[in-house]
Amino acid sequence: MSSAPIGKICVLGLGYIGLPTASVIASRGVDVVGVDVKQDVVDCINRGEIHIVEPDLEGVTASAVHRGHLRASTEPEPADAFVIAVPTPFHDGKAELGYVWSAARAIAPHLRPGTLVVLESTSPPGTTDQMTRILAESRPDLRFPARDGNGPVDVNIAYCPERVLPGRVLTELIDNSRVIGGISAACSDRAKALYRIFCRGDLHVTDARTAEMCKLTENAFRDVNIAFANELSRVCDTIGINVWELIRLANQHPRVNILQPGPGVGGHCIAVDPWFIVEAAPDATPLIRTARQVNDDKPKRVLGMVREALEATRAATGRRPTVALLGLAFKADVDDLRESPALAIAETVASWNDCETLVSEPNIEDLPASLSGMEGVRFVTDIDQTVAAADIVVMLVNHRPYLAIERESLASKTIIDTRGVWA
Ligand SMILES: NC(=O)c1ccc[n+]([C@@H]2O[C@H](COP(=O)([O-])OP(=O)(O)OC[C@H]3O[C@@H](n4cnc5c(N)ncnc54)[C@H](O)[C@@H]3O)[C@@H](O)[C@H]2O)c1
Repeated sequence: MSSAPIGKICVLGLGYIGLPTASVIASRGVDVVGVDVKQDVVDCINRGEIHIVEPDLEGVTASAVHRGHLRASTEPEPADAFVIAVPTPFHDGKAELGYVWSAARAIAPHLRPGTLVVLESTSPPGTTDQMTRILAESRPDLRFPARDGNGPVDVNIAYCPERVLPGRVLTELIDNSRVIGGISAACSDRAKALYRIFCRGDLHVTDARTAEMCKLTENAFRDVNIAFANELSRVCDTIGINVWELIRLANQHPRVNILQPGPGVGGHCIAVDPWFIVEAAPDATPLIRTARQVNDDKPKRVLGMVREALEATRAATGRRPTVALLGLAFKADVDDLRESPALAIAETVASWNDCETLVSEPNIEDLPASLSGMEGVRFVTDIDQTVAAADIVVMLVNHRPYLAIERESLASKTIIDTRGVWA
């Protein structure tokens, strides 16, 4: 069964990962059905449009749709391979895997001998084994792989995590190396054939649990290292040293590479995935847990600085201050607000209701629901006018348009620069 050609692929979850993956595979001339539970997402893609911000994606998606290789649907259908890229958020101290189970149950009726199923969603170790059990229960007529078994199977199952960087997804999808963890060696071989359709990077084969843990390890590594930078910024604030200069100088050492501090860690990967490791081994993870806490503490520290600046401005001018919050996204040049510390900071400042709050975010059209309609809060698009109107300018996200702000325009302002743009 393992050598059957992969002529049609069904991708479940058409978000930041699933949509670029579906579009890139379809751009190679393979028929792709993209499945999403949201009708508006499906309609948007079938018009050849996209619902997320990602450079160059719209052209690739539109061309694949117009050439007939990509279409979207709310229901899966029979295919040679299924790729699952649905959300795996973290709630109440646990990985929420309901979306994965529901996607698995939705594809189960469409499995047939020779089908490959790949889970791409970031998942705690053991999730792919559990998904295999769910599929096997739904389809007792088919033979499924076992970790220690090498008998004949009808369905191949693998875990293959995604490591693309938002903003560079199209290049990285093709050029990055990947880790492929089959339930068995035959499953890995079959998954390799799928990724070879579009991936030029090396494909490293391992087992499913190691592949699951590898993704979590990569993000926990980043989180721990950012926590070190954030802790340094706190030390430097306490003892009066410029942290940006300090890190630049320390990084001259040939074996030191300290990351940059920021207003906290956001997005639904680095801020979430380390918790999956803590959940898997709570007694063995004091460092990973502490790093999460250090990074989660950072927005509170920024809020402390904003509060201090507001009080100083009010005392000096005798009026309600105006604060400009530059950026809401979780990182530069993306529209993704999930787990964004910048958004959390903006929500808290707005809730104080003791200043005029000008909120800028060049990658979205309007205020998110959590800020819209709040008293004293305005969504602004002209960056220069915003800076001119503000007493306090808070740099929260180093989006490209903000880098063009003239230094002179900041001369009379209180600056809180969480990104080191004006350091
Ligand atoms: N965004 C990233 O940069 C990134 C990077 C690496 C890994 N990941 C992981 O990839 C997975 C997907 O992340 P994302 O950012 O693409 O999420 P997303 O929220 O942008 O997209 C997920 C999509 O899945 C849809 N969906 C939910 N349940 C479904 C179901 N049962 N069937 C079909 N569609 C369903 C949702 O409607 C949504 O459109 C997550 O596990 C995430 O941790 C994301």
